[in-house]
Amino acid sequence: MVSANGQNNRIVSGMRPTGRLHLGNYHGALKNWVQLQHEFECFFFVADWHALTTHYEDSGDISERAWDMVIDWLSAGLNPGSSTLFIQSRVPEHAELHLLLSMVTPLSWLERVPTYKDQQEKLKERDLSTYGFLGYPLLQSADILMYKPGLVPVGEDQVSHVEITREIARRFNHIFGREPEFESRAETALKKTGKKNARLFRDMRKRWQEQGDEESLEVARAMLSAQQNITKGDRERLFGYLEGGGREILVEPEVLLTETPKMPGLDGQKMSKSYGNTIELREPLESVEKKIRTMPTDPARVRRADPGTPEKCPVWEFHKVYSDKDTQDWVHKGCTTAGIGCLECKGPVIEAVCSELKPIQERAKDYENDPEGVRRIIQDGCENARSRARETLDETRQAMGLQYR
Ligand code: TRP
Ligand code: SF4
Repeated sequence: MVSANGQNNRIVSGMRPTGRLHLGNYHGALKNWVQLQHEFECFFFVADWHALTTHYEDSGDISERAWDMVIDWLSAGLNPGSSTLFIQSRVPEHAELHLLLSMVTPLSWLERVPTYKDQQEKLKERDLSTYGFLGYPLLQSADILMYKPGLVPVGEDQVSHVEITREIARRFNHIFGREPEFESRAETALKKTGKKNARLFRDMRKRWQEQGDEESLEVARAMLSAQQNITKGDRERLFGYLEGGGREILVEPEVLLTETPKMPGLDGQKMSKSYGNTIELREPLESVEKKIRTMPTDPARVRRADPGTPEKCPVWEFHKVYSDKDTQDWVHKGCTTAGIGCLECKGPVIEAVCSELKPIQERAKDYENDPEGVRRIIQDGCENARSRARETLDETRQAMGLQYR
């Protein structure tokens, strides 16, 4: 499948196994995945090795967290009929590709990925000066390159990882994408374009490769495109020769940035397990209601008659995610004029969150009652992923000269 802009229609994304998901995870990623299934061929996986890179000391319940997360995926509407759902460590080809890529990955590239230092700062209590943690983005590159996706749906925090993935693919192709005697074949092809063109090509190629002069690149490209007396293969070869890349073995993907509403937690900070301010997808609805009824509001509204400022209130953040314009206007007016009480204001939020969760929770019951069925879905997904992964790995090994048959 190829879409209008020439990108292929495959996407890959992973999520670390954090256990039961909350509304922040849902609005931040999962809901988007569910939508993408309609448009793309999707590979979604549990990134359990990635979890180990930071939480190796408390990995005991990692598989339990993975199954819990998978149940939430299915309940939220990921459909194993249209998406391949699998667990990273059950497709060990990812590890081999990671290893092979590590051979050509400069250390400095990994050291300057912004999340490397950031996370070390943020998770100070953990010792993240490990080999595995440094390799985090490269493991992610292997996850991605394995399936040759056109797009990788991620949030802002993961963009640098897709960037390094592109650089790795480019470097790999440059080093290993050359057929034997690439240069002499290219030179032979070049002669077929005539003396004058060949001289022009050499000049332009030099200017492009040595000085990065884009105009020269364009001139040489145009010259090649206009050639009528060379074969398609020769033309391809010459394009590769010109640009300095080789044959495309690994495909450079693009980021598909997930636009997400900022999902606040019950206390106004970002919703996160570690802040204890979450509403889980499988949270009983009575508990959801209670949590919202007791969540803090603008502290200026001590008494019902005191006016407030929605912008200073976490409930308003929920209205921004869940309410339509009319309701938002009602909140704004009611709050600033003390026309409504906070409990009244929370009513539509409780309503909206519960109606969002209800169908998810109904589906979850079915999956909770059928753990074997859930395992089978993942088993099928792993098998499908593996057969795709083997193809890429074969090509990669071949390109590197590791062919023993
Ligand atoms: N690092 C990603 C995160 O923390 C998870 C991940 C692992 C991923 N491999 C991936 C995301 C490949 C997209 C593609 O969210
Ligand atoms: Fe917050 Fe609504 Fe109360 Fe205003 S009326 S402080 S927005 S809960």
